[in-house]
Amino acid sequence: MAKLVMLTLLGLGLALFRDHRASYQTRLNAFREVKPVELPNCNLVKGIESGSEDLEILPSGLAFISSGLKYPGIKNFEPDKPGKIFLMDLNEENPTVLELRITGSKFDHSSFNPHGISTFTDEDNTVYLLVVNHPDFKSTVELFKFQEEEKSLFHLKTIRHKLLPNLNDIVAVGPEHFYATNDHYFVDQYLRSWELYLGLAWSYVVYYSPTEVQVMADGFDFANGINISPDGKYVYISELLAHKIHVYEKHANWTLTPLKVIRIQNILREEPKVTLVYADNGTVLQGSTVASVYKGKLLIGTVFQKALYCEL
Ligand SMILES: *[C@@H]1O[C@H](CO)[C@@H](O)[C@H](O)[C@H]1NC(C)=O
Repeated sequence: MAKLVMLTLLGLGLALFRDHRASYQTRLNAFREVKPVELPNCNLVKGIESGSEDLEILPSGLAFISSGLKYPGIKNFEPDKPGKIFLMDLNEENPTVLELRITGSKFDHSSFNPHGISTFTDEDNTVYLLVVNHPDFKSTVELFKFQEEEKSLFHLKTIRHKLLPNLNDIVAVGPEHFYATNDHYFVDQYLRSWELYLGLAWSYVVYYSPTEVQVMADGFDFANGINISPDGKYVYISELLAHKIHVYEKHANWTLTPLKVIRIQNILREEPKVTLVYADNGTVLQGSTVASVYKGKLLIGTVFQKALYCEL
């Protein structure tokens, strides 16, 4: 009898394990095959070999690109070098990238590990660049002033907060005001693995300002990219492992109300609601994370590898 109970428990345990393993593979899209969709005129961006995890294009056509992310479990081609922020002028015929120099005495360049980035331009056209940083795998937001003439970033301050423990991406709504995604709940690496594997969906989104910090949305299975509509009325949050994009209405008091969820499924069916403009199976690009458009050109970034610039 005791043996039967033990066997049943073992069986139940294994069933639970199998079930989680299957759903983990589905959540990761582990068996998805990607059929390439090509664009006629694409070029890899020279000088980007170690990631372009996030990028943002200013209305002027200047693009900021974060490169060199070190993230647990993810490949890195330059593990001994600090990360970089590149600048690319998309108005040029054959744009190249330039590494922005970082100035300011309080900033530790050797542990720079940039992840999501976002810009904010104030009334007198000062451009602030806010960068999620992981020095020693911790999470901070670095606030820089972009100095276009000098091609440099002047470090203004480092923001840390207990509600910003596992930052991934950020969208600025003021010089020191932003929404940010925490892609995990736990900080401890062991607990993080279980959180991810079991699909607890405890990842959340925070609003930060110097005077108020608050969780504004939660229950995500890995909240990843975050962005805001050009009119500033809606906030978009991508939920990586649920394969969803959430659309929220942003209120004057910075709270968010869920409006709708866009599930991107079956993108190649007869009447897609979403247009697939480019797809690659890993031959050219691996692990793409971000894309943005400027004057009919598409710039695509990747977690740890290259960047691609195409005509649409
Ligand atoms: C924030 O604003 C929204 C919309 O006006 C309102 O429904 C909500 O109660 C407000 N929340 C707080 C905490 O003030």
